[in-house]
Amino acid sequence: MQKQTDYLEAIKTKYPEQVIIAIAKDPTGRPNPITLGWAMTVSFEPPMWAIAVSEIHYTPSCIRHSKCFTIALPSADQKDAAMFFGSRSGRDIDKFAACPRHCATEPAKKIDSVLLCEAVANFECTLEKEYPAGDHIIFIGKVVSSTINTDPNRRLYTLGPGHKLGAVSAR
Ligand SMILES: Cc1cc2nc3c(=O)[nH]c(=O)nc-3n(C[C@H](O)[C@H](O)[C@H](O)COP(=O)(O)O)c2cc1C
Repeated sequence: MQKQTDYLEAIKTKYPEQVIIAIAKDPTGRPNPITLGWAMTVSFEPPMWAIAVSEIHYTPSCIRHSKCFTIALPSADQKDAAMFFGSRSGRDIDKFAACPRHCATEPAKKIDSVLLCEAVANFECTLEKEYPAGDHIIFIGKVVSSTINTDPNRRLYTLGPGHKLGAVSAR
């Protein structure tokens, strides 16, 4: 049986939600990471991802400038880094320089960005298109290179409302 309720109540049932970290260089060449929940794969051939980013963040200008971005799938160990990247703006600080733990990067192989060394996987994307969607912009990226961690760890998810982050445990 279904009962009518308001959107904000109903949407609380969506968890767990995957967490990704998108990284694009700003006009000074500084890589800026942002934590996102609104992301999905949208094409198999060619492989493509879509991410939804609020126009008020610093990230849209970085993606438009560099025309590419990394999608990193953070590990459960990177919970604090994900919270940090998702609560501070690259307009104000160099997030990688200020991040204390589990934030090491290495240069991307095919795009002008960086990879997260401790992520479960990284996808290098070239910017294909952007579409306005309500109060967010959907950026579509085509994957041109992929890497996985040789030392696997569990992925990071949002487990419930209020950015409660952690690994999903099997029941
Ligand atoms: C778990 C989590 C998920 C988030 N998901 C999104 C999202 O899907 N889209 C978005 O625009 N912001 C999202 N945010 C907020 C941004 O990460 C945050 O506002 C960030 O500080 C913006 O950084 P920037 O100004 O450097 O671009 C999320 C934050 C957290 C902690």
